[in-house]
Amino acid sequence: MPEPAGLFVGLATLDVVQLVDALPRPDEKIRALDDMLAAGGPATNAAVAFARSGGRATLVTRVPDGPAWDLMRGDLAAGGVDVLRAPTAQGRRVTVASILVTRGTGERAVVSTGDRSHAGAGVALEPTAFLDAIDAAAYSVLLCDGHEADLAIPLAARAREAGVPVVLDGGSWKPTTAELLRHVDAAVVSSAFRPAAGGDVLDYLSEAGVPYAAVTRGASSILYRTSTGDGELAVEPVAGVVDTLGAGDFFHGGFAHHVAAHGLHDEAGFMAALAFGAGVAGESIRSFGTRAWLG
Ligand SMILES: Nc1ncnc2c1ncn2[C@@H]1O[C@H](COP(=O)(O)OP(=O)(O)OP(=O)(O)O)[C@@H](O)[C@H]1O
Ligand SMILES: [Mg+2]
Repeated sequence: MPEPAGLFVGLATLDVVQLVDALPRPDEKIRALDDMLAAGGPATNAAVAFARSGGRATLVTRVPDGPAWDLMRGDLAAGGVDVLRAPTAQGRRVTVASILVTRGTGERAVVSTGDRSHAGAGVALEPTAFLDAIDAAAYSVLLCDGHEADLAIPLAARAREAGVPVVLDGGSWKPTTAELLRHVDAAVVSSAFRPAAGGDVLDYLSEAGVPYAAVTRGASSILYRTSTGDGELAVEPVAGVVDTLGAGDFFHGGFAHHVAAHGLHDEAGFMAALAFGAGVAGESIRSFGTRAWLG
């Protein structure tokens, strides 16, 4: 069987990650126990995990040229991820994420400017020609993280039309999420995902017409809904959790790999993909940072 190919559309950040004994108080200087620099962002990390699972991963994102991109490019090449960069508006800067991981608990505190696709000065560039050069039908799965929505929405629409399963990693609800959901086959969202309309998240996703929906809740069980009903998938406890940073992203890379390799046909297949994603996430949280687990 050829390696499945995955298209990942969304945010790429430069992550500055430090391990600390405890978070600093205002105006305090503390010593880090370890540190690392890598590309980050949900779609980006998912692409890395997809490649690690044996797939061919292509990331569609926006990062301007410069020293940060040079560093991110090296990291993604080492992770086996091909990158297609859409044109960026003049003056757009790289999104930096400052992350402190607490030793002992593995909890992460993240500060980031988030998606800058529409922020700042400069002319918004039309991505039409860039998007037309991407053949969404040539992939076995498309995963989007809700960022760079002007790239994700047309690509998701084309993928779906071609019968390619479309997966959403819903980290938080955004105004563009409703439109994106029209093209989504499987939405797996974090507990921070809260639709503006309020109400139950699984109700919202099924009313939006998403056939396969789930909510991940860290170490707690995954709640899901399909056309055949609701269910709950236990998460295997992981001994020696060092760093939960990126767990959700890597979960999605594994989930997408399972969908790409086996398709998404019924509740059993959805559950198997969720379980595979949970296994990849479980592997990723046993070491510091977002790359050490790759070995
Ligand atoms: N402490 C943990 N122990 C075992 N598994 C975990 C733990 N934390 C996360 N996971 C696995 O990773 C999956 C996704 O985690 P979580 O719900 O925290 O993602 P998230 O909220 O999207 O976070 P992020 O995207 O910031 O990593 C969980 O469903 C679970 O399978
Ligand atoms: Mg997440």
